[in-house]
Amino acid sequence: MNDKTSVLTCELVNLSTRKLKKIQTMKRTKVVDVLKSTDFGKEVVVKGWVRTHRSSKAVDFIALNDGSTIKNIQIVVDPSKINADTLKSITTGACLCVTGTLVESQGKGQSVEIQCQDIEVYGLCGSDYPMQKKGQSFEYMRQHAHMRLRTNTFGAVMRIRHNMAFAIHQYFHEHGFFYFHTPLITASDAEGAGEMFQVTTQNLNDLKKGEDGKVSYEDDFFGKMTSLTVSGQLEGELGATALGQIYTFGPTFRAENSNTPRHLAEFWMIEPEIAFIALPDLMDLEEDFIKYCVRWALDNCKDDLDFLNSMIDKTLLERLQGVLKNDFVRLTYTDGIKILEEAAANGHKFEFPVSWGMDLASEHERFLVEHHFKKPVIMYDYPKEIKAFYMKINEDGKTVQGTDVLFPQIGEIIGGSVREESLEKLTSEIERRHIPMKDMWWYLDTRKYGTCPHGGFGLGFERLILFVTGMQNIRDVIPFPRTPKNAEF
Ligand code: 4AD
Ligand code: MG
Repeated sequence: MNDKTSVLTCELVNLSTRKLKKIQTMKRTKVVDVLKSTDFGKEVVVKGWVRTHRSSKAVDFIALNDGSTIKNIQIVVDPSKINADTLKSITTGACLCVTGTLVESQGKGQSVEIQCQDIEVYGLCGSDYPMQKKGQSFEYMRQHAHMRLRTNTFGAVMRIRHNMAFAIHQYFHEHGFFYFHTPLITASDAEGAGEMFQVTTQNLNDLKKGEDGKVSYEDDFFGKMTSLTVSGQLEGELGATALGQIYTFGPTFRAENSNTPRHLAEFWMIEPEIAFIALPDLMDLEEDFIKYCVRWALDNCKDDLDFLNSMIDKTLLERLQGVLKNDFVRLTYTDGIKILEEAAANGHKFEFPVSWGMDLASEHERFLVEHHFKKPVIMYDYPKEIKAFYMKINEDGKTVQGTDVLFPQIGEIIGGSVREESLEKLTSEIERRHIPMKDMWWYLDTRKYGTCPHGGFGLGFERLILFVTGMQNIRDVIPFPRTPKNAEF
């Protein structure tokens, strides 16, 4: 190498390190912000994953998405400026850092695009990338739940999920509720349904048993039998009868073997609990709260909802607006049964026959909401035998002040009640149901010391997300669903 060429090489190296340094120090702009920008001619850096890459001789188009919005930014590449092998290796799913100039778009479908100056490939993506093909079934995507988050649909669902969680905290904060943390590990079965997952550190291959042949929990971690909670309500009542009004928002676990599009073994529940509330006000709160969440989605998730409305469910936006427009129906269980019996007498076929005292199946709930009233229904005053032990017993002695909110497409979205505040009545109900009193002493203390009328409800978070997104299966509105025989990822 002569002196001249070495100087030249040196200059070239300097040039590229300078350029590299500039790129490294330039701040990344999120796609959501780039798309809103009108700073044409400005240099920008965007980073994200390739949705599509179309090549022709004169120009390449790369659609890049970084998850900040459903929309992609279009990168326009002059193939003569980028190493041909590098450009060829960029396929759907690859991760890139792109530097370029923001320009007004010539093409349809977007208002801005980036004229590419430089591409740094962070990660190439093999041809076996499971999310490569468009239009895969939801069943297929569930098997690849770790990668499905990168698709348009799941991106939209997850952004809406975030927004709903935020709206819920906002609602309760604005209304003077305190966020109250209830335990996930518990020794009590709040709903009394016996559908709990046990928590133990015992060696299951060598279980210690007592003289009665039953497992002994004395040496177990907590010294007693414990499980994952099915509801934070009972501890929530302790909070409400001290702080006035609280809400919980946490995961709940139910070992019910329900393989339906509405049930998860691990789901998130929001449980407000309010001192001094009576049934009509509790139902008003349920309605106001759900409407606030739906309104929030319409106001803050427009792009994602538009996408879901066009791709998943063409009646979604109409249904969401319908919820805001209509007053929810208030209907006693007894009147509901009358309507269902009349429908059956007029020839409507129900899979499960209708009679007073039965637990309504989803087909009955949906008949009332979708066919009869055509709007959400808040049902109340249920037979006591089909509801939990803590609900306030009405004067008829047969019904309790339970309230379920029934929604189109979903069925039960909220379950709640006014609580029995009389120590005597509550104790006799606990005895009648053979619930072990020794596990309940702390709960009964709320009734013993300054008892007060109070009530609350539980909203199934994923059922709300189902409704707001128009998705059909609850497994598709939580990142990693837990259902019978499935705990992958
Ligand atoms: O009706 P549930 O069982 O009520 C309670 O747990 C009360 N402790 C709530 C309260 O009063 N604080 O459950 C409440 C809601 C249901 O209406 C439903 O939306 C949801 O939780 N839910 C489920 N969601 C998904 N998968 C499951 N397995 C669910 N079980 C209940
Ligand atoms: Mg319920």
